[in-house]
Amino acid sequence: MRIAIPLPLLLRFRQARYMPAEAWDWLRGRRNPLLPPRWLRFVGGGDFATVGERFLQHFQRLAKLQPDEDVLDVGCGVGRIALALTTYLKPPGKYSGFDIVPEGIRWCQRHITPQFPHFQFQHADIHNAAYNPRGTARAESFAFPYGDASFDFVFLASVFTHMLPGGMRRYLQEVRRVLRPDGKCLATFFVLNSESRRLMAGTGSQFHFGHDLGGCFTVSPNRPEAAIAYEEDRLRVQILEAGLNLNAFYPGGWCGRERAMDGQDIVLLSAAVLHCRYLRNSCALLVTANQLPDHRQ
Ligand SMILES: C[S@@+](CC[C@H](N)C(=O)[O-])C[C@H]1O[C@@H](n2cnc3c(N)ncnc32)[C@H](O)[C@@H]1O
Repeated sequence: MRIAIPLPLLLRFRQARYMPAEAWDWLRGRRNPLLPPRWLRFVGGGDFATVGERFLQHFQRLAKLQPDEDVLDVGCGVGRIALALTTYLKPPGKYSGFDIVPEGIRWCQRHITPQFPHFQFQHADIHNAAYNPRGTARAESFAFPYGDASFDFVFLASVFTHMLPGGMRRYLQEVRRVLRPDGKCLATFFVLNSESRRLMAGTGSQFHFGHDLGGCFTVSPNRPEAAIAYEEDRLRVQILEAGLNLNAFYPGGWCGRERAMDGQDIVLLSAAVLHCRYLRNSCALLVTANQLPDHRQ
C-alpha cells in the first residue's frame, strides 16, 4: 500500500468519504458486523475478506498450520487475517495480535474478542512515519509483549514492507524468541535481487524502489515507511543472525512477475538449531554465497 499522508489524517478523510455508503448499508440492514467499516480498512488493496482467506490458505498449505496451535499476528492492522482465522483456530488454540494503530486494535477488541475470546489484541505505541507518526516507542528496541517460546506460528503480513532495517532486525530476533523450538514463521517482503530488479525496470511493476536508504530501499524518500524493500543477500544474513532458518521463498507478483503465489514475496522461516553466535555468523557468511531456497509457481 502507498500512503502519501500520515494515517491518522488519512483515516479522517476516509471516514468522511465512506460515511454515506456505510449509513446506506446500515439503513438497508446490509451492514456486516464482522467487517470493519470501509474507512477503517487501511491495510491495503483488494477485497478485505478475500485477502484474509488467501492468507489462511497460505498458512495451511505452506506452514501446515493446525487449528489447535498458538498463533501470533505481528502488525495485525484491523483484523483482516484474524477474521479469516476465526473460522479455523479453535481452543485450546489461540490467537494474539498487536499493532501500532489504536483505531484498528480498538475495533478488533470490540468486535472480534467478544465473539471469539481466544482472540486477543494489544496496542503498542511504536513510531512509524506512515502509520503512527506520534508513536513514542521504537521498533528497534521493542520487546513483543509475550513470553519466550509462546507460539507455534508467527506471521507478519505486509509489515516488514513498512519497516526500516533496525526495526526489522529487532523483530526477527523477537520472532525467534517467542517461537517454540519447532515453530514456524511466515513473513512477506519486497526482496530485491537480479530478477526482481530486472522486472522492476519494466512496465509491469507496481513498485519502484528507486531510493537507497543504506540498508533498504524505498519508493518515497519523504515517507520511507510507505514501502520498503530489502536486498536478498542482506535479508538472508539478517534472518540467520536472528537465529532463524530460511526454509522457503515464494517470489511475489509486485514487480510484474507473472506466476506468483501472492502480491508480495513470501518467506517461510523456522527456529534454527544453532545456538552459538560465532557459528551462526559464520553460517550467515557461507549462506550468502548461495541462493534463497526458491519455490516458484
Ligand atoms: C499493510 S498493513 C497490514 C496489516 C495486516 N497485517 C493485514 O495484512 O491486514 C501494515 C501494518 O503494519 C503495522 N505496523 C507498522 N509498523 C509496525 C510495527 N513496528 N509493529 C507492529 N505493527 C506495525 C501497521 O500499523 C499496519 O497495520
